[in-house]
Amino acid sequence: MCGIVGVISKQLDCNQKIRYGLKKLEYRGYDSVGYAYILDNKIIINKCKGTVENLYEKYPNLKEFNIGIGHTRWATTGKADNKNAHPHLSFHKKIALVHNGIIDNYNKIKSFLTKNGYKFKSDTDSEVVANLIEYYYLKNNNIMESLKLSSQILIGNYAVAILNIDEPDRIYFYKRKSPLVIGVSNDGLFLASDSLAFDKYCSDFIDIHDDRFGYITKDNAYVFSNKGIVDVKSYKNENKSEDNELGHYPFHMIKEIEEIPSKIEKLLDVYYKDNNYNFTNNLLECIKNSDYIIFVGCGTSYNAERILSRLTDQINKPTLTFIASEWSYYPVYFGKNPLFVFLSQSGETMDVIKCIDIVKEKGFKSLLITNSEASTLAKKADFVLPLYSGREIAVASTKAYVTMITVYLLLIGAYQNDASIIDEIKEAITAIKDIIARKDEIYQIALKIKKKKNVFFLGRGYDYDMALEASLKLKEITYIHSEAIAGGELKHGPIALIEKGVPVFCFFSDKKTYHALLNNVNEVKSRGAKVFNIVNESLKTNDEQFIIKDLPLRVSMLSKIVFAFYLAYFVSYQKGLNVDKPRNLAKSVTVE
Ligand code: G6P
Repeated sequence: MCGIVGVISKQLDCNQKIRYGLKKLEYRGYDSVGYAYILDNKIIINKCKGTVENLYEKYPNLKEFNIGIGHTRWATTGKADNKNAHPHLSFHKKIALVHNGIIDNYNKIKSFLTKNGYKFKSDTDSEVVANLIEYYYLKNNNIMESLKLSSQILIGNYAVAILNIDEPDRIYFYKRKSPLVIGVSNDGLFLASDSLAFDKYCSDFIDIHDDRFGYITKDNAYVFSNKGIVDVKSYKNENKSEDNELGHYPFHMIKEIEEIPSKIEKLLDVYYKDNNYNFTNNLLECIKNSDYIIFVGCGTSYNAERILSRLTDQINKPTLTFIASEWSYYPVYFGKNPLFVFLSQSGETMDVIKCIDIVKEKGFKSLLITNSEASTLAKKADFVLPLYSGREIAVASTKAYVTMITVYLLLIGAYQNDASIIDEIKEAITAIKDIIARKDEIYQIALKIKKKKNVFFLGRGYDYDMALEASLKLKEITYIHSEAIAGGELKHGPIALIEKGVPVFCFFSDKKTYHALLNNVNEVKSRGAKVFNIVNESLKTNDEQFIIKDLPLRVSMLSKIVFAFYLAYFVSYQKGLNVDKPRNLAKSVTVE
């Protein structure tokens, strides 16, 4: 939520660098945007409600400068409008600030500052931080000291970049719990919420730990803890070599759906090398010694964990699944030696971070399945299984869901020392490629539902878990209300919503539940529902259906969910919506 970027350069080229960074960070929030720079001893701020495009339409005459900070916002405190857009200028115009995070005690600080003559232009917590730093700075004439003092007062999480009118040769920063990295290039330095913001310019980045502060100049980074300057380590910026461009695709989501086969192949290459599983013995031992496996995640990752939990039955371990934001407030533990498995595409989801902190404090082991090896969660987990899926840019997660399931299937294979799963995964890849080749059929189905107000997804077992993800995908990018229903629960309430013409999509993967599910289909049909079934070849029905190659049950959702991804995508596309940036959502939810 919210992306921040700061650039200080040897050339007068920061405008284009900030614009590039803002564009790359839009996945973190896109309801307002802005940047500030220092030129001729003045801080100049350009900002507005809307997207990066809107900003540069509003301010087309670009000045050149060599120091600036920018922000792309997902509104938390104060609605999305011009005045609440970042950067915020402090009352005495000394400081411009961009902030990602939430300050819990901002009201109290605001009252204090108001008593000291400060007036506020916005409703944000971030403007309060700018003024608090300035308040100290006007007393001590030392920004570093002011950062220290204010960080002792602020409660919450933040990554902040600051311009000081009196020091146009540096950008200050401080960080607690929200992500912040420094990019290093021959031409200057960057600060950003994500190294993606400077992938084109920097081959290395420096990670900033919590409760660190400091500044960057065009040549160097200076990072401090409360005890003094700290040594920093730089890492290769993997984003630099990644293909994050759209190519011939209209949206990232469809590009990412169509990358799924190659991303699964990549996982086979990494985790099943030269006909041998490639997982550490420590991890396999840890699973062996655990008496419970407890899964925790949010959104699509939560839906994936439900599948993982079912897969765990194969190794006879009891499992539980939790939504991170629930577990963090109501933590429960099972067994003497549970292993917690966290799923997070971004590795930055605040609710999940809260959970891993609790687990660490208790001394339990944790495994993270993530697409971001450099993330906050990756730093905290005992074991990390990267997805190697390449950046997911579309807010709606697709390839990460499929690769999360795949990597776990491989882990189970390694644990059981059973290579049969490899062939099954390869069969699933073929089935996915077949669905991709038949996407036009799904386009036609999407045409039929794009004007509907409600859509339902039905399934049992794995198919119900998949229905949850199918339903989430549809609602998040098409704004059509949708629900996933476990077949057996239909009669316990949801059937009241079935009326003439309502589309019901039903997943058939499991022989065991075929007849029970068929009964559910008949129940909704006899109440007027328009049924579409997504079935295996051997589980055909008499209804309108999309037939998928037969696959073993444990890999069947890898392919069927691709149907649902396309369905959501095509409905959103046909409605003329911004598929990659659905309203009110953000890719990385770094606040509670
Ligand atoms: C947001 C995203 C979802 C994602 C969820 C969890 O809601 O829009 O696509 O599934 O966060 O994110 P994570 O990065 O922890 O998997």
